[in-house]
Amino acid sequence: MALNIAHILQDDLIAPMVKKTAYGLATTCILGAAVYVGYRVAAPEKHRIRHHRHPELNDQIEKVMDSLKITDDQLVHIMHILEEEMTAGLSPATHKQATVKMFPTYVRNIPNGTEVGKVLALDLGGTNFRVLLIDLRGNDKVELTSKIFVIPQSIMIGDGKYLFRHLAECLYEFMLKENLIHTGLCYPLGFTFSFPCKQEGLASARLTGWTKGFSCAGVVNQDVVKLLQDAINEKGINAKCVALVNDTVGTLMACAYKDPSTAIGLILGTGTNACYIESLDKVGTWDGDYDEPKQVIINMEWGAFGDNDRLNLIRTKYDEEVDLSSINPGKQIFEKMISGMYMGEIVRLIILDLLQQELLFLGHRDTYGDYKTPLYDRGGFYTKFVSTVETDEGIKFSNTRRVLEDIGIRNPTYDDCAIVQHICRQVSKRAARLAGAGLAVLINRIGKSEVTVGVDGSLYRYHPRFKRNMERCMEALVHKDIKFQLTLSDDGSGKGAAMVACVADRSLMTASVFRDEETADYEKVI
Ligand code: GLC
Repeated sequence: MALNIAHILQDDLIAPMVKKTAYGLATTCILGAAVYVGYRVAAPEKHRIRHHRHPELNDQIEKVMDSLKITDDQLVHIMHILEEEMTAGLSPATHKQATVKMFPTYVRNIPNGTEVGKVLALDLGGTNFRVLLIDLRGNDKVELTSKIFVIPQSIMIGDGKYLFRHLAECLYEFMLKENLIHTGLCYPLGFTFSFPCKQEGLASARLTGWTKGFSCAGVVNQDVVKLLQDAINEKGINAKCVALVNDTVGTLMACAYKDPSTAIGLILGTGTNACYIESLDKVGTWDGDYDEPKQVIINMEWGAFGDNDRLNLIRTKYDEEVDLSSINPGKQIFEKMISGMYMGEIVRLIILDLLQQELLFLGHRDTYGDYKTPLYDRGGFYTKFVSTVETDEGIKFSNTRRVLEDIGIRNPTYDDCAIVQHICRQVSKRAARLAGAGLAVLINRIGKSEVTVGVDGSLYRYHPRFKRNMERCMEALVHKDIKFQLTLSDDGSGKGAAMVACVADRSLMTASVFRDEETADYEKVI
């Protein structure tokens, strides 16, 4: 900080000197004035540097930054609202209108580390799609082979049948490479499908709506397990989907395999969502049996929190803009304030606003209206840039400079870099505090003395201070007698689906022969 101020002071010293020299020339003769004018035009950055200020000293910039700040009191208020919305989602009388859907997942057991077997998994939730072969070896040991496939944009927004056909083709390619095709065995498959689904059983789930940039026709209200299985059968693949799980559930399960105090799964990636273990007596919408254990994992779909305007008190004009220009306006309001799909865009809109108010990139007036630079394109500031900018410590800003060059700002000043970093910090801190407040609600509600949260997602993994910011805010919001920890769940959405396939329906897995009525009879493989 001392260094920063020293640097600013230096800038402030240079500026008056430049200015004095110019004024001196101007009073000497008209020619001198012309030289000065020429100098200003040629070196606007140097001339303007006097007006640059450290972001914390600049009232107008601070006004924008203040709109992103959420106080602890506001967080407590948001926690109360979230609890109310959760209750609405869990109650049959209000579930239909509820925004936070609180879907029971039919996953009631968590793994204990002794599960064994070879299971296939498909993981669809963002632009990448993965096929995995998971070998659970007991004693917490898991062997994993996987391959990533891209989902082209045309498929993301095309007809649903092409999506499921594509998934089956990728599965076939993977199984061929792993010598799993035509082995005479039918492999059980766990499907991690990270979109809101009303589950009707472990292997039956209706999509209630697309999120995260997907909008394939003909899938909403359909049973996605059936759509997948039809595509698998059409291709004659020897695999049977035995469970569908949300990525949060996979994350919880994978973490629980190693740490039995895990009770919450959280995703902070392209989207955000959480699941947790709830007592059956609090789940009014539960239509299954009441056998032991009297609990079920609830997929909250908390990304939709605020879709009924209840978060308007903390939304900014940038949030509104992000929402309006999205593929699903009015939907996933909480997610749009937190997750990786939107964070870079919020930062870009703030940068543009400051630029238009002439508070930023003053040496780059030629950039204004240069609509060719990515700064003017929707999505032109990637969320990974936010992480990169925030890894800069001190005054060199080498990463920030690189990012700014990428978006078309050449030779940014110290102030430009400091302001952009300040914006990134505020936007990501707000996201971390909102997610932290959501977790605090769950941890307090579960009421156990120790709770582990399994977390996964690119934002959480790669952002340098997301975890720290979440923990800091949670320390103030979680009841003092509860110990909690956030644990990175290693590849949860893949492994977790395999564990669900193994654990959640043990009866299926203990059958000696695994029959696939729709295709042929195969020997069971686990
Ligand atoms: C979106 C999906 C949700 C998923 C989350 C994280 O919010 O609706 O199902 O868990 O993204 O991937």
